[in-house]
Amino acid sequence: MKSKIIELLKSESKKYVSGETISKTLGVSRTAIWKHMKKLKEEGYVIESATQKGYRLVSEPKEITEIDLIKITKEIDSIQNVFFLDTIESTNTFAKEKAKDSNIHSAIVFSREQTMGRGRMGRTWYSEKDKGLWFSLLLRPSIPPHEIAKVTLLAAASVAKAIEEETSLNAEIKWPNDIVIKGKKVCGILTEMSVEIDAVHYLVVGIGINLLHENMEREIENKATSLYLTLGDKNVDPKKLLRSILFYFDDFYNQWEKNNDTEAFIKVNREKSALMGKKAYIYEKDVPMEVFVETIDSSGALIVYPIVDGVKSDSPKKVNSGEVSVRGLEGYL
Ligand code: BTN
Repeated sequence: MKSKIIELLKSESKKYVSGETISKTLGVSRTAIWKHMKKLKEEGYVIESATQKGYRLVSEPKEITEIDLIKITKEIDSIQNVFFLDTIESTNTFAKEKAKDSNIHSAIVFSREQTMGRGRMGRTWYSEKDKGLWFSLLLRPSIPPHEIAKVTLLAAASVAKAIEEETSLNAEIKWPNDIVIKGKKVCGILTEMSVEIDAVHYLVVGIGINLLHENMEREIENKATSLYLTLGDKNVDPKKLLRSILFYFDDFYNQWEKNNDTEAFIKVNREKSALMGKKAYIYEKDVPMEVFVETIDSSGALIVYPIVDGVKSDSPKKVNSGEVSVRGLEGYL
């Protein structure tokens, strides 16, 4: 109902809409409207009310609200359920809980804040309130288990394309799960799944994007950044950014599920690769191997040439995501 009220007020742009009109149009009592208005004001909507005139929407919060999330998701075929939270330990953990309910086929879990946000390799993901986009997608794709790890590349391509669209910054992908701008990480992706040999039960793709941080935590400030720090202004609209990410995601995901086509998003990973054509270290179980990164093949694997004693070998090696971490020669990149 709250979203319908906002839609109605918006349709009249900044003019007053009488309580009677709202009541008749939406089929709710005047008291119910009053209660919804109170809630909306608490959520940051500035609504003026005047006797005889009714209600007028003056401004909406800059941050993503539940109403925004529901509206955005309505346009996204691959996501049917919406969970909007003020605070949660981790949206990935919450999504995995929801996955136990087989009636929930797909969902987005979005939280304004995470108190125990999780990164890869057991790391902490700092997720202060409204400073970034912290969300997880729960999906149950009809895709064979051996293919499923590619979903991280799909998410990375979606985020990189969306950041570029909304900010015109050059967002690069550090295979397989980081988005990098000017050499620093702005987004991380944590994919978790429950699979058997022949079936995927569920996938949870967690995406964290640093938006409004004015400084980064000490231990990550050399390698992490936010869109604000890179752009120098706060003009990134989180609603537009999220919408754009989900549109790209939906498009790539449908092409994959329906046509078994993964080339579109793998191509983006190649075009926007932060590693291709460079030297890097590949860590398998903490053991570093110096390599030259050649490309990303059609299966989404990184194709590298090991460098031993400064000499590049002739035989390429295929590296699958999930097995390794990649670092640049001088630290993060
Ligand atoms: C990484 O770079 O190590 C991955 C970071 C993933 C962070 C996101 S924020 C939303 C979702 N919930 C979590 O607890 N983690 C992911």
